[in-house]
Amino acid sequence: MDIKAISSQNRKQINDFISSHWFSTDMVVRGKTIDMTKLDGFAVYENKAIIGLVTYEIDGSECEIVSLDSLSEKHGIGTALVEKVIETATKLKCVKIKLITTNDNLNAIRFYQRRGFDMTCLYHNSIQNARRIKPSIPMIGEYGIPIKHEIEFEMKLPKK
Ligand SMILES: CC(C)(COP(=O)(O)OP(=O)(O)OC[C@H]1O[C@@H](n2cnc3c(N)ncnc32)[C@H](O)[C@@H]1OP(=O)(O)O)[C@@H](O)C(=O)NCCC(=O)NCCS
Repeated sequence: MDIKAISSQNRKQINDFISSHWFSTDMVVRGKTIDMTKLDGFAVYENKAIIGLVTYEIDGSECEIVSLDSLSEKHGIGTALVEKVIETATKLKCVKIKLITTNDNLNAIRFYQRRGFDMTCLYHNSIQNARRIKPSIPMIGEYGIPIKHEIEFEMKLPKK
């Protein structure tokens, strides 16, 4: 799999990818706006096109996955990208990796639990607030489920 870290060389292409998949380059997480154009991450390429992207932020000893996208699902892209973040966070001596997904995203809820992430917190009705900051967040998500809550997952990393 052709995986490259985000760098100044591919930043423009990465930002275009983010805008087309997340409605803007800002992500609202727990009421806080994150400028995704500044984040580190990894992209999967096929014929010079991006077909997968993970972005993350390191804050002290915690790593947070901010976005994860696979355009060619069920071929191991999502898993490979999460593994790159685990490897990086471990090298940086992070104690945990956390992430937020929304209540409609049953696929992500399954995906992360299958990869060792545990559900740790529910931010009830938090998307109402997030929508005030980012009005492009849709009302209805996957499977026709109203998008209302943020669910936090985390994976504790072993000390190395
Ligand atoms: C969640 C998401 C990133 C998963 O990406 P993906 O590339 O499909 O992930 P993988 O291919 O690694 O794994 C998905 C499933 O396919 C299976 N799979 C992987 N390779 C396979 C293959 N060659 N044949 C059959 N199944 C395969 C995996 O075992 C996995 O199943 P499991 O979770 O039951 O174990 C993707 O669905 C996505 O982009 N969703 C939209 C954005 C999103 O919701 N992001 C997460 C919130 S931030």
